[in-house]
Amino acid sequence: LLAGVLFLCGAALVAQPEEKPSVTVDLYLSTDCPVAARYGPRLAAIVSDYQNQGFEIRAWFPNEGETKHGAKQWLAERKIPLEPSLDWGGEQAARDEVEIIPTVVVRDAEGNRLYHGAIDDNRVDERAKTPYLRNALAALAKGEPVAEEAGEPFGCFVMPGDPLPPAGQITYADHAAAIINENCVSCHRPGEVAPFSLVGYENARKWHRMIAWTTEERLMPPWPAEPGYGKFRGELALSDREIEVLKRWAEAGAPMGEEANLPPEPEFGDSTWAMGEPDMLLRVPYQHEIAADGRDEYWHFILQPEIDEPVVVKAMDVHPGNKRVVHHVIGFIDSTGASLNNVPDRENGPLAYERFGGPGFIPSNSLGGWAPGMRPQAFPEGAGIVVNPGDRLVLQVHYTKTGRPETDQTEVGLYLADPDEEITDELRVAWLAHLGLRIPAGEPEVEVERTFNVPAGFKVFAVMPHMHLLGQHMEAAVETEGGETIPLVRVPDWSFKWQFAYVFEEPIVLDEPGQIRLKAVYDNSAGNPDNPHDPPREVRWGENTTDEMMLLVVFYSRE
Ligand code: HEC
Repeated sequence: LLAGVLFLCGAALVAQPEEKPSVTVDLYLSTDCPVAARYGPRLAAIVSDYQNQGFEIRAWFPNEGETKHGAKQWLAERKIPLEPSLDWGGEQAARDEVEIIPTVVVRDAEGNRLYHGAIDDNRVDERAKTPYLRNALAALAKGEPVAEEAGEPFGCFVMPGDPLPPAGQITYADHAAAIINENCVSCHRPGEVAPFSLVGYENARKWHRMIAWTTEERLMPPWPAEPGYGKFRGELALSDREIEVLKRWAEAGAPMGEEANLPPEPEFGDSTWAMGEPDMLLRVPYQHEIAADGRDEYWHFILQPEIDEPVVVKAMDVHPGNKRVVHHVIGFIDSTGASLNNVPDRENGPLAYERFGGPGFIPSNSLGGWAPGMRPQAFPEGAGIVVNPGDRLVLQVHYTKTGRPETDQTEVGLYLADPDEEITDELRVAWLAHLGLRIPAGEPEVEVERTFNVPAGFKVFAVMPHMHLLGQHMEAAVETEGGETIPLVRVPDWSFKWQFAYVFEEPIVLDEPGQIRLKAVYDNSAGNPDNPHDPPREVRWGENTTDEMMLLVVFYSRE
C-alpha cells in the first residue's frame, strides 16, 4: 500500500508542467548487486530532490532474472519513488555503453549525453567526497553546463539475460499464439466461462489491444493473489517477458507471421469440467425453484455418495445449474445424519431445507467452497479429505435474486485419490471468521485485524479468503511464537468476482505454536462503486451479499 502511494506521488510530480528543458536520468540498477543496494538511501534522496525539477528519472534493471515485481519491491524497500523498467537482454544498457551497476546516464531532450558515470566516488556514504550526480543535476537545474568530470563507475558487471526478438519480428505464429494458447484459451473458448473466444489468429487479432492492456495491468489471466506472497499450485500468471512480447506484438499491429510456424492447435477434451470428468458426480435430484425477489436464500441439499469403502477427495468442482442465481456453494460433510433433522418433510419432500446463518448441524468436515471464476486444484500427494460410507454431503447453495422466478439444479464433481495413494494427511477445515465485524457508514478505509491461535504441528494446505462487496484488501500470515512471519496469502485488490481457493505448492508446517493474523480493509464510502447501500450505512457480518464477511477458510492437518 505504502509503495503504491509513493509511486503515485512520483508519477504526479513528474507529470507537472516543466519550465526547464527536459532532462532524462537513467539509473542502471540490479536487485542483487550489493553496491547498488548501498546506494539506496542516497538515491532515494536524490530522486526526491530532483524528480520535480524537470528531470525524468528512470530505473533500469538489465540483469538476467530480474522481475518487475522484484525490482518494484527492491525500490519500495529503499523508498526510492520510481517505477522500475526491465531492460530485456541489456539492450538499453548496451546502447548507453553501461557495463557496471550502478551507473547513471544523463541526457538532454535531444539525446546528447550530459553525464555518464558513477553516482559519487565511494560506496560508503560517509567516505564519498565528490557527489558527481548531485553536482551535475544541481548545475543543470540552474541551467548551467555540467562542470565536473565523470566519475569512474564501480560495483558489479551488467549480466544481461536473453534479448527479446527484435521489434518487427514478433508475430502471432512465432510468439503470441503460444502464450495465448497456454494461458488464455482454457477459459476463452466457446462454451467456457469467459465472454469471448481467443482461439485462432482472427480472434486474437481482433482483441489484440485488449490482450496487451489486460495482461500488462495483470487483470488477465485472473489471479488475485499477490505473486511471491505464498507459493501456490496452478498459479495463473504471465512472466514479465511474456507480457512484454504480447505488448510489442500488439504495438506492431498484431502481425500473423508465417503460417508454417504456428504452434499446434490447443486441444481440449470433451469434458466441460476444468479437471476433466470427475470420478464421482453428485447432483441435486430435482429442479429447485427460486422466488423472483426477497432476500437471498441459503438452501441445503442432502446428497448421498454411493460408496462401500472410504474415499479420499483430492478436489471438488461445481457446475452451477443456473449461473445467474448461484452465488456460492459450500460442501459440508455430515457423518451422523443430523442434517436430516432440518428437512421439513422427509417422507414426501426433497431432502433439502432453507436455513440462514449456517447449515443447522455441526458438520464433521467440509469439502470447502466454490464461487464463480474458481478453478479447482488438487491437494498434493498424500493429502485429501476422507469421506466414509454412510457420510452425507450437504451442499449449501447461496442464491441471489434476479427479479424473475428461476430454477437451478447444481452438480458437484469430486476427484478422488487413487486407491494406492498413501494418505498421510487427512485434511480438515477451519473457518477463521470475525463474526463481530462492524464497518461504519461512509468510511473509505476501514482496517480490521484479527488473530487466531494455532498449535505446533499445524499444517496448512490451502486457504480461501472471503469477503463481500466492500472488501478491498485481505492478507493472512502465520506469526510464530519465535517471532517468524510466514506469508499465507495476500489479495491486494479484492474482487468479489474472483474468489479463489489457493492450494499451497508445499504445505506450511508450524514447528511451534503461533497465530494466524488476518487483515482486511473495507471501503464503505459512497465513492465505492460496489457499495450495495446508497447512501452508505453501517454494515455488519452477515450472510447476505449486502452484509459483509471477514473469513479465511483454512484446509489443515495436524501432526
Ligand atoms: C480462469 C479463466 C480465464 C483465463 C485463464 C483468462 N481469462 Fe480473460 N476473462 C475471463 C472472464 C470470466 C472474463 C469476463 C470478466 C468479466 O465479466 O468481468 C474475461 C475477460 C477478459 C477480457 C475483457 C476485458 C475485461 O476486463 O472484461 C480480456 C481482454 C481478456 N479476458 C483477456 C484474457 C487474456 C489475454 C488471457 C490470457 C493471458 C485471459 N483473458 C485469461 C476468464 C479468463
